[in-house]
Amino acid sequence: MQMGSVQFAKAAALVAAGVIGVVAILSRPLPLEAQNNSESIQQLVQQGFAIAPVPLNLAGKDPNLVGLGSYLVNAVGDCNGCHSSGTPASLFLYPYLAGGNPYFGQPQKIDPSVYLNGGTSFGSVGTPTGPKGYGGPAIITRNLTPDYTGQAEGGHTLTQFIDIIRNGHDYDQVHPNCTPTQIQEINAGETPACIPTGVVPGTNFDNIPNGNLLQIMPWPTFSHMTDYDITAIYEYLSAIPCIDNTLVPGPAGDPNELRNQCGPEPIATGVQAKYANRSSKALRSGWAGLGIPGVVK
Ligand code: HEC
Repeated sequence: MQMGSVQFAKAAALVAAGVIGVVAILSRPLPLEAQNNSESIQQLVQQGFAIAPVPLNLAGKDPNLVGLGSYLVNAVGDCNGCHSSGTPASLFLYPYLAGGNPYFGQPQKIDPSVYLNGGTSFGSVGTPTGPKGYGGPAIITRNLTPDYTGQAEGGHTLTQFIDIIRNGHDYDQVHPNCTPTQIQEINAGETPACIPTGVVPGTNFDNIPNGNLLQIMPWPTFSHMTDYDITAIYEYLSAIPCIDNTLVPGPAGDPNELRNQCGPEPIATGVQAKYANRSSKALRSGWAGLGIPGVVK
């Protein structure tokens, strides 16, 4: 049976409409690629300011970057979902204020006192070995708040920050791979701060994480962000309040990694003693500037 010309015209029109629809969907700009679309990016900036859960210090900062950074941190990247110790009141499980836990069906209220202070433990990632089945130190999220100078992320430069997000570079070297000597220590029952690698017992799986790289941290995904987006996150992280996390222990390779000295400056002798076991990256560099040996890794 032949299709009537009217039906054919309708069918052709439907196909054409379908093609136009597909083209329209494909050519619609995605929000994160909308940097040339000033209207869309302004919406992200405004939304970023609306959802920032802490007061922001905008002095000397580019508000467009801070707003976009807040959007990426608080609406997309879930940085606080991992990089918070959680509140003592919630047994360190949730970063929400009492009565503000969305998982309990409550209206969301993020606790500013543990916002991006670090401290969630993800356990070990190495190959279990030795008498205790040791798999390396627990991988623990770091403090992302600024140091006392206001430099973002505990005193990292923008160049370092881009390198961290792009390449997973662990500047703190908290958990390098175990040396043969350290493997011997593990077999003798010790627990050095290094990642043992090898075949997972009972399998053929070679578990060979590179301990010089950040583990768990989703940098392989974040690495696809543009320089502009990463710079926006950095600018935002320099605008949030400093938190000197004293709530939870830091990673084993660097027990002070979560500590962030928030002031005062300059560092007095007494303060050095007080912070001797809880120095931040910034504090260490401060000490380095004072020529005090043994505190810079
Ligand atoms: C799935 C959990 C998770 C999420 C989500 C996450 N991180 Fe991380 N991040 C980690 C862990 C775990 C580490 C420490 C890894 C290690 O020790 O090997 C880390 C480390 C880092 C470091 C290195 C810190 C330092 O002092 O060297 C930076 C910077 C960082 N994260 C930034 C971010 C930002 C920004 C976001 C959001 C855009 C984010 N992270 C989201 C888990 C996460």
